[in-house]
Amino acid sequence: MDKEMFKLDSRLALITGAARGLGAAITIALAQQGADVAISDKPGQSLDDTAGKAKEYGHKVFTFNMDVRVMNQIYQGIAAVNKEFSKIDILVNNAGINRPMYGLKVTEENWDSHYNTNVKGGFFVAQAVAKLMIPRRWGRIIFISSQSGLIGIPGQPVYCSTKGAIIQLARTLGLEWAKYGITVNAVAPTFVKTNLTHKRLENREFLNFVLGRIPIGKLATPEDVAAAVVYLASDEAKMVNCAVLSVDGGWTAW
Ligand SMILES: NC(=O)c1ccc[n+]([C@@H]2O[C@H](COP(=O)([O-])OP(=O)(O)OC[C@H]3O[C@@H](n4cnc5c(N)ncnc54)[C@H](O)[C@@H]3O)[C@@H](O)[C@H]2O)c1
Repeated sequence: MDKEMFKLDSRLALITGAARGLGAAITIALAQQGADVAISDKPGQSLDDTAGKAKEYGHKVFTFNMDVRVMNQIYQGIAAVNKEFSKIDILVNNAGINRPMYGLKVTEENWDSHYNTNVKGGFFVAQAVAKLMIPRRWGRIIFISSQSGLIGIPGQPVYCSTKGAIIQLARTLGLEWAKYGITVNAVAPTFVKTNLTHKRLENREFLNFVLGRIPIGKLATPEDVAAAVVYLASDEAKMVNCAVLSVDGGWTAW
């Protein structure tokens, strides 16, 4: 093997929901492997912290606001990235929400906010980016799903269903777009301590439930998830398409 593996030199990666949490860690890992990064988050969310850390690796960092629920913002955001770099090689559809609510309590607002962000937003960002990838005959689209897309977790039926939908999008879009040199895959992490989960994980009973389910006996870290994304974004993963890469310490094998 004469080439260092998993290098992303000269690639441009777009990451959504990159202000914090997994999106920030994914951005930094992709920059560390050599990619230029275009990072976005909802209006009002500062990207300065993530951008500052990514810049340490010496590559280009472009920041912009894009609420993935708003079609105009998607089109304007993708156009701005394309104007700056004339391409998008890698898309990480990471922006997502989880507002746990038991089935009997779920409201229409709770349902719509999950679906508009996690499913509709991710789909239309992927569609807009794929249109730029197709003429170049190369692309990597990576959806951040969850183990919750593979199994049920009481208290979050709507979130689980959106994460399952994301897996089906990855499988089907991967079938449609493989002929253009684009692979589409999903990453399915177990619990990671971030803004999304920290309140529930502070509850000792819930934490014990979670740790008891993970054979490795630890939560995942943002860097564990970022490493899976780096792999799927790399040249070396060229035969991996329509796949779900679990980063769950074995939870979903039960
Ligand atoms: N933390 C976990 O345990 C865990 C496990 C599995 C999967 N995930 C998934 O990973 C992704 C990132 O989660 P996280 O844990 O880093 O959460 P987080 O809340 O820390 O970060 C999510 C980011 O997405 C952004 N975002 C939310 N709605 C948006 C919108 N409409 N438009 C643009 N950006 C938006 C937020 O502003 C935030 O910066 C999510 O898709 C989540 O479902 C998280």
